[in-house]
Amino acid sequence: MSETIKTNVNGNPRTYEVDLGASALEVIRDQEGLTGTKLVCGTGVCGACTVLVDNEPVCSCLLPATQLEGKQVQTVEYHDQDNLHPIQRAFMACDGLQCGYCTPGFINEGIAFYEQWKKASHKQPPTREEVAEAMAGHLCRCGAYVGIYEAIQRACAGEFDADQIPEHPRVDSLPKVTGKAKYTADVKLPGQLTGKIFRSTYAHGTITKLDLSAARQMPGVKAVIRLLEEDVFYYYDQPLAAVAAETAAQAEAALTAIQFEYTPLPVILDPDEARKPDAPQLYADPKNIPGAGEGGGLPGKWEGNVRRTTFSLSASKRSKARKVVEKAASGSGQYFKGSFFTPTQLHTCLEPHCAVADWKDGKLVLYASTQGLALTAREVAKHYELPPENVRVYSDFIGGGFGSKINPKTATFTAISLSKEAGAPVAMILSRPEELIDSGSRPAARMDVEIGSNADGSAPAFKMDAYGAGGFSSGSNIADIAGMIYKGIPRDIHDYDVLTNFSPGCPFRGPSGPASCFSLEQAVDQLAHDAQVDPIDFRTGYDTNKEHESLYKWVKDLPVWKNRKRPEEKDGRFRTGIGVSFINWLHLLVPSTEVEVEVNRTGIFVKNAVQDMGQGSKSVLAKAVAEVFEISPQDVKVVVGDSILPYGPTSGGSRTATSIYPAAKAAARKVKDRMIGDLAKQNNWKNAAQEGNGIRYDGGKVRWQEAWEQVQGSIKEKVKRGGNAGMNPLGLLPLGDGLRIGKKRGRGCYVIEVEVDTLLGKIRVTNVWGAMRIGKIFVPAMARSQCYGGVIQGIGYALYEDRYHDPNTGQVLTRGLEDYKIPGIGDIPEMQIDFLEEGFEFVKEKGIGLAELATMPVAAAVANAVFNATGFRPDRAPILPENLIQGLSV
Ligand code: FES
Repeated sequence: MSETIKTNVNGNPRTYEVDLGASALEVIRDQEGLTGTKLVCGTGVCGACTVLVDNEPVCSCLLPATQLEGKQVQTVEYHDQDNLHPIQRAFMACDGLQCGYCTPGFINEGIAFYEQWKKASHKQPPTREEVAEAMAGHLCRCGAYVGIYEAIQRACAGEFDADQIPEHPRVDSLPKVTGKAKYTADVKLPGQLTGKIFRSTYAHGTITKLDLSAARQMPGVKAVIRLLEEDVFYYYDQPLAAVAAETAAQAEAALTAIQFEYTPLPVILDPDEARKPDAPQLYADPKNIPGAGEGGGLPGKWEGNVRRTTFSLSASKRSKARKVVEKAASGSGQYFKGSFFTPTQLHTCLEPHCAVADWKDGKLVLYASTQGLALTAREVAKHYELPPENVRVYSDFIGGGFGSKINPKTATFTAISLSKEAGAPVAMILSRPEELIDSGSRPAARMDVEIGSNADGSAPAFKMDAYGAGGFSSGSNIADIAGMIYKGIPRDIHDYDVLTNFSPGCPFRGPSGPASCFSLEQAVDQLAHDAQVDPIDFRTGYDTNKEHESLYKWVKDLPVWKNRKRPEEKDGRFRTGIGVSFINWLHLLVPSTEVEVEVNRTGIFVKNAVQDMGQGSKSVLAKAVAEVFEISPQDVKVVVGDSILPYGPTSGGSRTATSIYPAAKAAARKVKDRMIGDLAKQNNWKNAAQEGNGIRYDGGKVRWQEAWEQVQGSIKEKVKRGGNAGMNPLGLLPLGDGLRIGKKRGRGCYVIEVEVDTLLGKIRVTNVWGAMRIGKIFVPAMARSQCYGGVIQGIGYALYEDRYHDPNTGQVLTRGLEDYKIPGIGDIPEMQIDFLEEGFEFVKEKGIGLAELATMPVAAAVANAVFNATGFRPDRAPILPENLIQGLSV
C-alpha cells in the first residue's frame, strides 16, 4: 500500500510515492538522496536522524513518511558551504565533532535551539545545564560533547553570526557539518543489492539442516550463501547464511524462508562455570579459536575452556612477590586481597560495521567502514586469492571504530561473497541490534589481586590472576598490562582466557588497560589508605621509574589534590571524593608508512592510505605540511582513504599520528627544497630561500600560493617514515601491519572528582584533570579532543555500560541504544587536560600516540574517587547505584 504525498525539502517542492510503513528518514535518504541524515538507532534514542519539520526538530526514523505531507523539511544539507548557519560555523570553530556521524542531528537540534534562543532575546548565552537539556536526545560515541557545549553557547552569544568560515582545527569539519561527508553506509552504486544475515537462534549446537533452497526462489533474491563452513555454531545470533536481494524487504523476507535445524550442545554463559574442571569443553580444538580478543595474543596453553599465558612481558621477581604477599597476609604488614569484575563493553560505533562490495571480472572494488585500509585490502586479497592489484578499498569518512573496525569482519566478507555470487554490487550494513550483539566487544573480566607491603606501606609487591571472558575468542593480557604500570614492584602475574558461548571480543581502545587499572590501581589505593599514606607518596616510595616523576609532581601540585580529605572525614548525603589512576602504553609505530606530498598548479596535496575515524589523521597530515610551508592547514589538500595511495598505517593502537606526521613533514621539506630550486632556476631568481609563507629572492618575494601556480607539471616526493634512533628490542617481533614497538612508553594519569548521592546511590563525575606525557603534541585541538573522548568512554565503562543477556539462552538483551546506555551530554564533567611535552626527543618529530592512554585509567580513578568520598571500595564496574547502596550499608 502506498500513498502520494506533496512536501517541500530544503526549499524544493517534492511529490513522493511512499509506502504506508515507510519512515521520513527513508524518503529523505533513499528517494531524495540526502545522506547527511543518518540512521543509527532506529528507535528515536540517539538523535542522529534529526531533521527540522516546520522548524521543529524531529527524529525522522520514527516519523511516518506520510506525515511529511504539506510540511517544510530542512535537512543538514540546507545550509551549505556558501550559506552556513552560525551553529555550523560554531561546531567547526569549537571542534564539536570527531567522526561526524552524529553531527547532522546535533546541528539541526542546535539550529532549532539557537533560533528559539535568539527569538527570546536572551541577554546571556545559555548555561551548560540549558544546553545539556536541549541536546539530551542526542548521543555522540566519540565524546565530542565538550566542543558541542562550547559551540552552542558561543553561537547563541552571537560569536558566529558573521558570514565567514571561522578558523577551525579539524580540516574535514566542513563536509561533516554540511552533510557532504560520504560514509560507507551512504554509498549507493548502480544496481546495488541489499545484503542481510541469517543468524543462529540458539547458543551452541550442531547444524542438522540449513536449507537455503526456498530462499533462493524468493522474489528479488539474487544470491544466497552459507557463511559458516563447519557444522557447529558457538553463540546465539552467530551468522550462518546470508542473502542479497533487490530491496531490504525482499532480503528480510528471504531470511524467513531459510530452514534451520540443530541438535543442542552444552551452553556455558558464566565464565566461573566455564573454568570448573568438570565443565564441558565448549570447543573441540580451542587452538583454532579466533585470536579476536584483546591484546597481542601472548603464547599460552589450553586446558578445557581456559587458556593460560605461558609468557609475560612484565612479570618481575615472581617468587619475591609471592613471599612479600604471603608475609603481609600473615599479619606482619599491610595486606589487601580482592576480586574485581569489569563488564563487557560494546564499541557502539554510530556508523555500524558495513561494506559495499562490487566484484566484477575478478576485480574487487570495496567501500568499507574500516580502521585498517591497507590491512583490509591485503586480507581480502588473500582470502579470495585475488592479486593485490585487483583489490581497491575506499574508506574516506568512518563513523567511529574504537578498535572494532581494524580487521575485516562479517559485514565485509559477507558483502564480498554475496557480490561475487550475485554479479552485482552488494551493501551489507549491520542493523543496530546486530551491531550491539556481534561486532566485537571489550571482554568482561575478573581479576583476583593480592597486594602486600611492610606495615608503613613500603616495599609492596602484588599477585594478579586475570581472567578475560571474550566469548568465542582469546587474547586477554590484563595482568600483563597491569604489570607494566610500575617499575620496581615485584609482581607475580598470570593472564587467562575463559571461553563461553558469546560472540567474539575484539580490541577496544586501550585493550585490557581499563580492567588492569580498575584492579591494580584500586588495590594500590587501598594499601596506601590502610597505611595512612598519601597515594602519590605511596607510589613514589616504590616506583623507580623516573618517567613518572613529572606526573607525580603534577598531581601533587593540583590544589584539589592538596585539599583532599580521607573518607572518614566526610559525612552527609552528598559527598565529594577525589581519586587518581596512572597508566602507560607502548609507543607503537609503523616504519613502512609512506607519505607523498605533491605541489602542482592547483595547490599542495598530502597523500596517504590512512583513514580518519574522527581521531584527526587528516588534520595531522595537513598540519605537518603546513608547518613546513608556514601556511594554514586549511590550504593543504588531504587525500586519504584509498588503498592505492602510499602505504598507510591502521588507525588504532595509538600508532597513527606518530607514523604519518614525521613522514609527511620529511616529504614536505623535500618538496619545498625542490620547488625553491626549480622556480629559482626557471625564473632566474638569485639567492632564493624560504621566508615565512613564501620564497624570498634578490629583488622580491612570492607567496607559496603564487609560487605553485608557476610549477611546471608537478613536484612530488614520497618519504617512508622508518624507525627511530633507538628501537625496543621487542620492535623486532613480527607484529601485523608492519607494526613496531619503539623505546619508552607514553604515560598518563587522571585525577577525578565525583559527587556521590549516598541516599540514591548515584555517582556524578564532576571534574577531571588529566596529564599526558607523550612528547610533542602535533595538533593540540585533536589531542585534547581524543582525551575528552577517552574520558567520556571511560565514564561509560565505570558507571553505565554493560552487556546484558538472557541467562537461559545467551541471547543478548541490550540490542538497542535504549537498553545499552552510553554517556550523554549531561553526564559530562568539566575537563582540563595538560600535556607534558617531554621524554620523546629521540623519536622522529618528538611525539607519540595518545588515544589509548586517554581512556585506560578513567574507571579506576572514578572508583578511587568513590572510595575517597564514601569509604566504599567498588569491586565491580559499572558501579551501579544498587551496588553502592548495598556496599554502604555493610
Ligand atoms: Fe559524534 Fe563520532 S562525532 S559519534
